[in-house]
Amino acid sequence: MIDLYFQTRLITRVSRSFLALLLIAGVAFTGIPFSGTAQPSPPPPFRPMQLPGLDNVYSVAGRFLSGSVPHTDEGFAALARLGVKTIISVDGATPDAAAAEKFGMRYVHLPFGYDGIPGTNAVQLVKAAQALPGPVYIHCHHGMHRGPAAVAVMCEGVAGWDAALADRWMRLAGTATNYTGLYRAAADFKMPSAAQLAAVSTNFPSHTPINSLAAIMVKVDEHWTSLKAARKTGFKALVNPPGTLPADAALQLQELLHEAHRTGAGAARGARFETALIQADQAATELHHALDQLGHTPGAGQESTAREAFDSTSKSCASCHRDFRD
Ligand code: HEC
Repeated sequence: MIDLYFQTRLITRVSRSFLALLLIAGVAFTGIPFSGTAQPSPPPPFRPMQLPGLDNVYSVAGRFLSGSVPHTDEGFAALARLGVKTIISVDGATPDAAAAEKFGMRYVHLPFGYDGIPGTNAVQLVKAAQALPGPVYIHCHHGMHRGPAAVAVMCEGVAGWDAALADRWMRLAGTATNYTGLYRAAADFKMPSAAQLAAVSTNFPSHTPINSLAAIMVKVDEHWTSLKAARKTGFKALVNPPGTLPADAALQLQELLHEAHRTGAGAARGARFETALIQADQAATELHHALDQLGHTPGAGQESTAREAFDSTSKSCASCHRDFRD
C-alpha cells in the first residue's frame, strides 16, 4: 500500500525537526522500547499535507486523502502525482470529470447535504471504499465538513475505525460541531450488510444532478418551520430534528440557500434571482450568528437582534416568492 505521506515528502518541504519527531513516533510505533517507560499510544492514522491547488488535505488510513475541491489543473496534477486513481466528490457542484480523466483519474459523484449522510449514501461510500482503486481522494467544497464526514464513514466501513476515532478525525479536520447531523452519521454508523453492499453497482456516476429548486425549498421550509416555532419561545426551545439548537437550524437553512446559489439550482431564472438567493443567504447567515450569540450570552439585546434577523430572513423568502414563484 502506498504511503502517501512519504511520497509527498519529495514534493513538499517538511521541516527537519518535524521529520525527526515523526521518526521517533515511528520507532515508538514499531515497538522498539523506550528505556522502561510505558509505550506511547500509536500516532493517529491521519496527517496533514500541503499540496498545490488543494486545501485542507490530509492523508487518512494510508489509502485515502481528504481535502477541498481541486482548484484548476494544478490540484488534479498534484493528485495524479501521488498516484490517486479515484476522486469522490460529496459536494453538490458538478465535478470536472474531464479534468480528472485528463490526468488518468476517475470521478465519482455521491453528493449529500450538511444535515447528515443519508443511509443510501453511506452504503455507497462503503462500497466505493471497498471496490474502487486507490489511493482515493474524497472532497466536498472546502474539505472541512461533508468530506471529512464521508471519510469517517468510509474508514469505519473498511479501515476498522470506531466512532471515537471517527469523531477525533472530524474534529481535527475542522468539521464544525454545529453540523450535528454530520457527526451523528459517524457516531451512529452501522456496517451495511453484505446484501446491501452487493446491491450497489460499482458503476458509480461521475455526475449526480442534485435536487431541483423545489426539493431544496422543501428542506428550507422544514428548517424555517422549526425556527418559527423557536421564535415563539424567544429562540429558547430546541427544535426539529429533536434536540437541534435554533442556531443550528439557521445554519442548515443558510447552507441550503448558499449551495442552491453555488450549484446554480435556480440559474435558469436569471441574474435577479441569483441576487435574491445571495440576499437570502446573507440574511440567514446573520440569523445564524445572532442565534449563536443569543445561545452563548442570553439577553434582551441579543434576542431583539435575533428577532430582526429572523424578520429580514422572512422578508427575503417572501420577496423572492413574490417575484419568482407566485
Ligand atoms: C431566491 C428566491 C427564493 C428564496 C430566497 C426563497 N424561495 Fe422558496 N421558492 C422559490 C421558488 C422559485 C419556488 C418554486 C420552486 C418550484 O416549484 O420549482 C419556491 C418554493 C418554495 C416552497 C414550496 C415548495 C414545494 O412544495 O414545491 C416553499 C415551502 C418555500 N419555497 C419556502 C421558502 C422559505 C421558508 C424561504 C425562506 C427561508 C424561501 N422559500 C426562500 C424561491 C425562493
